[in-house]
Amino acid sequence: MHDQVASLYPHHLSTLRERADQALALGGFDHLLIAAGTPLRKFLDDQDYPFVVSPHFKHWLPLTDAPGSWIAYTPGRKPKLIFLQPHDYWHVVPEAPHGYWVEHFDIVLVRDAADTLAALPAGRRAVIAAACPAIDGVEANNPPAVLDYLHWHRSYKTRYELMLMREASRIGTRAHRAAEAAFRAGESEFGIHLAYLAAARQTDAELPYASIVGLNEHGAVLHYTNFARLPPARSRSFLIDAGASAAGYASDITRTYAAPQAAEFQALIDSVDAAQQGFVAKVRAGQSYPELHIHAHHVLADVLREHGFIRMSAESAVESGVSSAFFPHGLGHPIGLQVHDVAGFQQSERGGSISRPAGHPYLRMTRVLEPGMVVTIEPGLYFIDMLLEELRTRPVAADIDWARVDSFRQYGGIRIEDDVVCTSDAPENLTRDAFAQHD
Ligand code: GLY
Ligand code: MN
Ligand code: MN
Repeated sequence: MHDQVASLYPHHLSTLRERADQALALGGFDHLLIAAGTPLRKFLDDQDYPFVVSPHFKHWLPLTDAPGSWIAYTPGRKPKLIFLQPHDYWHVVPEAPHGYWVEHFDIVLVRDAADTLAALPAGRRAVIAAACPAIDGVEANNPPAVLDYLHWHRSYKTRYELMLMREASRIGTRAHRAAEAAFRAGESEFGIHLAYLAAARQTDAELPYASIVGLNEHGAVLHYTNFARLPPARSRSFLIDAGASAAGYASDITRTYAAPQAAEFQALIDSVDAAQQGFVAKVRAGQSYPELHIHAHHVLADVLREHGFIRMSAESAVESGVSSAFFPHGLGHPIGLQVHDVAGFQQSERGGSISRPAGHPYLRMTRVLEPGMVVTIEPGLYFIDMLLEELRTRPVAADIDWARVDSFRQYGGIRIEDDVVCTSDAPENLTRDAFAQHD
């Protein structure tokens, strides 16, 4: 894996250089400056929040722990890494850069902000940074023309990026296996979470997002992150949405499990799983993602009907909003350097926005799929008290089997989420391929 990543890196870097050349020309700039960023300080405290590197920075090189460092790129020149290694005996100072990528950069080691400032090229600078000033003496300008161009093209992953995303999926699925075993052993949510972290060999702060680990009814809370410290009297069901990182690239994986005695819930999981695999098969070049989302509503409405929850056609369930009460989020989103990657709504490399279909406010991806894009496919069916109470007051409630619905509240809900690469041919399912490697 490491050798392959190394051999793919030069092409990745030349792709980024070409994109940067175009973006700078569009915006009328001479240099692209990218700040790694610095950790945020807690209010009235001397402690920092965990450092999260800028996605633009880790796009160029596999460094996620380099606070205060910069990349400076000038078209036609070797990119420069201005690497901050402060004199500090309180913290672990980032190691001097090493590895397969260093030969592709001019590396300047700096000890403080004054050195950094002196090492940054002068001229018309596109400065990409979260804070302003990015460093005393340099204002971040985040030029929209530059960002729009870079974000648009970030949707198309290089082979180097796909290699790292496969690795992120392998780490995530290994940890998911450990989490399932902990569930089967009757662990608490907290215990399952610890088993996940141990198997991933990543800290909470290194994961691409906060893990969702929900037993029983907690599966109905879409972003449940409480980690109950004690196990429930009986674990009937388990929903885990947790990913992993590889050199700054994310995986985003959800699985739902039933206890052996919860056969009716397992049957529903099996139906959602089959539906999900059908949606994954449609991740093909030319497929409109919002149309796939609407299609998912129809298929899931059929699942609800087949399992006796609703007595109406899929069409009327979708039209009346019934399907949205059970599937109240989007089918998925772009993924890459960020779990919810940029440009999901973007109209072109010049910016613009493609709006969501009416009635689907949580969809995070409105583009047509093209080769090189990576998206999640994460349909779900949930029994959410708030949404069911609302549904109960509507005329369409007469066509719902409430006794059956109520009997499933104890399981919370189901979500099944894979990360899928659109190619010029059949899709590549990063998640299922990775799970298959652990069998
Ligand atoms: N884990 C966040 C998501 O699935 O989008
Ligand atoms: Mn997701
Ligand atoms: Mn997820």
